[in-house]
Amino acid sequence: MLSIKTKKTYGQLKANLLCLYTFESAQKPEKLDSLETKLKSKILESLKTFEFKAKAGNTLIIEGNQTFERILIIGLGKKRDFNADGVRLALSQAVKEANRLRVESMVTPVPSAEKFLSACLEGILIADYQFRGMFQKGDKDRRNTLEKVTVISISVAAAKAAEEMQAVFEAINRSKNLINLPSNVVTPTYLEKEATEIANKYKKKVELKVLNEEDAQKEKMGAFLAVARGSVEPAKMIILRYNGNPKSKVVYSVIGKGITFDSGGISLKPATGMGLMKTDMSGSAAALGAFEATVALGLKVNLITIVAAAENMPGSKAYRPGDIVTASNGKTIEVVNTDAEGRMVLCDALVKAQKLGANRIIDIATLTGACIVTFGDTYTGLMSNDDEWAEAFLESARETGEKAWRLPMDREFFELIKSDICDMINANENRKAGTIVGGKFLEQFVEKGTKWIHLDIAGTAYMESKSGYRDKYATGVPVRTIVNLLKQQQKNKG
Ligand code: BES
Ligand code: ZN
Ligand code: MN
Repeated sequence: MLSIKTKKTYGQLKANLLCLYTFESAQKPEKLDSLETKLKSKILESLKTFEFKAKAGNTLIIEGNQTFERILIIGLGKKRDFNADGVRLALSQAVKEANRLRVESMVTPVPSAEKFLSACLEGILIADYQFRGMFQKGDKDRRNTLEKVTVISISVAAAKAAEEMQAVFEAINRSKNLINLPSNVVTPTYLEKEATEIANKYKKKVELKVLNEEDAQKEKMGAFLAVARGSVEPAKMIILRYNGNPKSKVVYSVIGKGITFDSGGISLKPATGMGLMKTDMSGSAAALGAFEATVALGLKVNLITIVAAAENMPGSKAYRPGDIVTASNGKTIEVVNTDAEGRMVLCDALVKAQKLGANRIIDIATLTGACIVTFGDTYTGLMSNDDEWAEAFLESARETGEKAWRLPMDREFFELIKSDICDMINANENRKAGTIVGGKFLEQFVEKGTKWIHLDIAGTAYMESKSGYRDKYATGVPVRTIVNLLKQQQKNKG
């Protein structure tokens, strides 16, 4: 990861690249005046010569001087449309350009207003991430060259903000790697190893407990274990705990779907695109990322993270359509489709979190293809049993730019998964309201008094192609939003 430093003024700074920003219809780039006169006039001249139009995304590279070898101008578009996402886009573009030019150091002011400092740091760090792949000869030729970015900011909190943001992105980048790596590498056991690494990194602050299949049996996690049966990979219920505010009765829990590969099981998926199901543990990667970041920042909150890790395979011991299994709260589930496995592993994790005292829960899952049909890769689907908790999350998401949209949860939707012979079916064959039905199923495992949010990230966890500053492959959604939310919560009450 590159390192970000902050400075109040340009001072004696030198760098390979200076990045400047300009709005459409502005006469000159922002914050130009603090630069040396000669360089300033050169920049203005070049902008004229090349008739630079500052449409969002337009760039111009100008030869610099001894202080800044090259100047990169980035267009910001119309000032009245400008927002934090514009900043993220501009900065991610700056970092991409710097790497394309194979330079090592860059200086940039915060574009527009200082209130955009966080977005500026986010843009830089989002673009800095690269999936390293698994090349025999390594990836030296395609590796990012940019090592150091200096952000010019007058904010007194700039240095601390930069340090914190880097800690958050260390966690996010771990999540992204987990999602991008293939299923023969990232198994439930590998997720356990990753959780152990996080626990060891923060030894005194974090407790780790991993339930193996035998332990899960003792806890009567029949739904979770049903999914695990078809695979030779041993399933793991991974529990991390951090008590950042022991005096508070509020206990947060972030629970992740950790299906390390989803073949569909006996209800086998079609071959085309099945490889993408290596990303079916994105929820658990995000849960681990949010946990690591929370501990790294030392937030004063209590947090339990549970990763429900299993592989969904059609082995000869696999659970079958028609089976009836009993979850750890005693509720019985008729399996209609073994491909609706996410809710099966999550329901036992939800019960466990509440047994451990969690009263404000967020579960994260690549749960339904229907969510992609509805929202594409633009919005995360949000379902909740509590208006206040849902709104707190949505407010946080508006700040981070990780878009989320709430779906209704009326009683009628549960009728779609009523069973004639037990408490519920795991999937309705007519696929009506697919995403909401997933949420309604999980809600059956949430007790009165527990505030709960279900996030369907089937569309937003992974990009098949780049869009704006969201690169191809894993996005790390919604780690930033959860960390931001817990920060807010800590301010409000703990
Ligand atoms: N992991 C899938 C959902 C998914 C599909 C995520 C595509 C990302 C991309 C999930 O386990 C699944 O198979 N869901 C089924 C549910 C159905 C059987 C009720 C689906 O969406 O078809
Ligand atoms: Zn799945
Ligand atoms: Mn599935």
